[in-house]
Amino acid sequence: MSDKLIIFDTTLRDGEQSPGASMTKEEKLRIARQLERLRVDVIEAGFAASSNGDFEAVKAIADTIKDSTVCSLARANDRDIARAAEALRGAQRARIHTFIATSPLHMEKKLRMTPDQVYEQARLAVRFARNLCPDVEFSPEDGYRSEIDFLCRVLEAVIDEGATTINIPDTVGYAVPELYGNFIRTLREKIPNSDKAVWSVHCHNDLGMAVANSLAGVKIGGARQVECTINGLGERAGNCALEEVVMAVKTRRDYFGLEVGIDTTQIVPASRLVSQTTGFVVQPNKAVVGANAFAHASGIHQDGVLKARDTYEIMRAEDVGWSTNKIVLGKLSGRNAFKQRLQELGIVMESESELNAAFAKFKELADRKAEIFDEDIIALVGDESVTPEKERYALVSLSQHSETGERPHARVVFTIDGKEHVGEADGNGPVDASIKAIESHVQSGAELLLYSVNAITSGSTESQGEVTIRLQHGGRVVNGVGADPDIVVASAKAYLSALTKLHSQVERVAAQG
Ligand code: KIV
Ligand code: ZN
Repeated sequence: MSDKLIIFDTTLRDGEQSPGASMTKEEKLRIARQLERLRVDVIEAGFAASSNGDFEAVKAIADTIKDSTVCSLARANDRDIARAAEALRGAQRARIHTFIATSPLHMEKKLRMTPDQVYEQARLAVRFARNLCPDVEFSPEDGYRSEIDFLCRVLEAVIDEGATTINIPDTVGYAVPELYGNFIRTLREKIPNSDKAVWSVHCHNDLGMAVANSLAGVKIGGARQVECTINGLGERAGNCALEEVVMAVKTRRDYFGLEVGIDTTQIVPASRLVSQTTGFVVQPNKAVVGANAFAHASGIHQDGVLKARDTYEIMRAEDVGWSTNKIVLGKLSGRNAFKQRLQELGIVMESESELNAAFAKFKELADRKAEIFDEDIIALVGDESVTPEKERYALVSLSQHSETGERPHARVVFTIDGKEHVGEADGNGPVDASIKAIESHVQSGAELLLYSVNAITSGSTESQGEVTIRLQHGGRVVNGVGADPDIVVASAKAYLSALTKLHSQVERVAAQG
């Protein structure tokens, strides 16, 4: 059996299914470039048949990425599969990932299909996909809760039809490590042609065991592909976290005996990019990528680490990319230096005018903040005023007055489809007054689900504040992110960005719908 563990990243597909995490094509491309730098083996770029937007994003990623295989999800029907193949046409290496549910509950209640119908549809789907692409993955959705004999029958048939990877999803996060590992091993032992495919694990984190289950699938079950997302992003409690699984296999090579091709120094930059793009903040005590993951607060620990770092450290912070947080630019940096840093960060400006707008924003920021970090640049290019033509709602200016004992008042000037509007309101605090000022005019009817502020770079009150606002309206949930050294301005930007997303027409078919 191979000793290489394939890392399959699904941040842009399963991760993006998380309510509020939806990304634009440009954002997805930026993340795909970072995943390529991270050297993931497979990037699941989206679900091409779910919407025109997803199709375009998968196509753009397939046309751009050279070093990783680019994959699209497709339900087990000819239309979805043909659409995936079309989106992937420009890829150096492409994979079609087709799936259908196989658990009694999903077949009866969701699909309203008999097991024989599901068996036939799975077989035909893989046959059709193999005619379009040599690399085909098949997933029995809710596989872990499926009856083992039926699952064996389906999987044997799809391997016969040419499926090259068999992925066993724990779709609802119900598995426990030992049982999941044994489940994969039993399948591989019972299915006569199991050695013709690579076995893969795909675990959700509802009981907090996604990483442990995935590792058990590898160690006990013999799987050689792990499906995972940056920061464990994903619906509900998320997916298996890439950074944890990779560092576990690397750090405990003595136990797992496997190789991964990941450039671990790109882990923290990838984590930051995903969190800044989606507004899903990483908890400080999160393994590997949390702000405290390498911080030793207790005197005993600090003393030990200073004497010999392996007294309390099993990984080196710089090996996962913590040292990349360097001052890159300042007030005197020119347009070329700025452009070069954007290129190094994998950020491509679509036009000269977009580059000029971003550079003007950079100069404005450098006047107010002496040290500009990579995170500041990533936040800056995500700013709606850099790409005003793409944003329905954009901030022009904000003034507010607050004083101890007084009710704060805010006046916000903003554009809707390029036309200027002014809103004014009082509020409990300056942030509340600013949001009410926008709402006095927009009257969106949206419900605020989340408001959070984070310092983009740690250790200084000079840092930009990054605000995430989650809104819900008409069954949709969106996240808006805004950054500025002034957190009231950052809040207004985040609110306007959320309104833009709320009012953009996204018609998408849910993968598991
Ligand atoms: O969790 C799941 O079952 C999935 C499949 C579509 C692979 O994401
Ligand atoms: Zn999933």
